[in-house]
Amino acid sequence: MYLTTERLRLGRFGPDDGALLLELESDPEVMRFLTGRATPRDEVESVVLPEILAVYAGHPRLGTFKAEDADGFVGWFGIQPTADPRTVDVGYRLKRSAWGKGYATEGTRALIAHAFTVLGMERVEADTMAVNHRSRAVMRRSGLRFEKVYHEHFDDPLPGTEFGEVLYAVDRATWEAGSHE
Ligand SMILES: CC(C)(COP(=O)(O)OP(=O)(O)OC[C@H]1O[C@@H](n2cnc3c(N)ncnc32)[C@H](O)[C@@H]1OP(=O)(O)O)[C@@H](O)C(=O)NCCC(=O)NCCS
Repeated sequence: MYLTTERLRLGRFGPDDGALLLELESDPEVMRFLTGRATPRDEVESVVLPEILAVYAGHPRLGTFKAEDADGFVGWFGIQPTADPRTVDVGYRLKRSAWGKGYATEGTRALIAHAFTVLGMERVEADTMAVNHRSRAVMRRSGLRFEKVYHEHFDDPLPGTEFGEVLYAVDRATWEAGSHE
């Protein structure tokens, strides 16, 4: 087990978990601000799952973690390396049936606490499309603060790309000062 919260258990994905990822990524509404389309089964098996497993190998204390509540799989939380070894990037992707329960905020707050208290990180970041208001609300509720809007080039941009991407972050001092209360 990677970590537990009041209602969630987070643990590593295994090589047989393609079906769970497909269950998540085959919903175009879940993928709306990521790729804008359902991920096909072969891509889950040949790209999505292997990439998740590869991060565990390269970064044993980081990665994308399967989240379960009392009834089973609800989605995942990610805590990923960045170019700066003392900064991690957090993210989340939940099945639609798990939205509206506070799970994303609960898991993200736990990952931020884990980053500072267990992993010794100095900064936690999160990013999303500016138009992904549900995700931005999770960032705000988790104690991350808005830093900037930035623009990236995409060959096949999603609707809303023109409004850019947003970066939220919190540093250790700010978090310790109580933003996590
Ligand atoms: C982004 C995403 C995780 C947000 O999920 P969410 O359910 O809106 O966020 P939370 O888990 O924090 O839940 C908050 C909601 O639960 C409600 N809630 C119900 N019970 C609650 C409880 N016990 N505690 C806290 N909130 C609770 C809140 O009132 C809030 O409702 P609202 O959206 O009507 O204001 C989800 O929309 C998702 O997976 N999207 C697809 C993937 C994605 O876009 N990821 C981000 C890309 S970077």
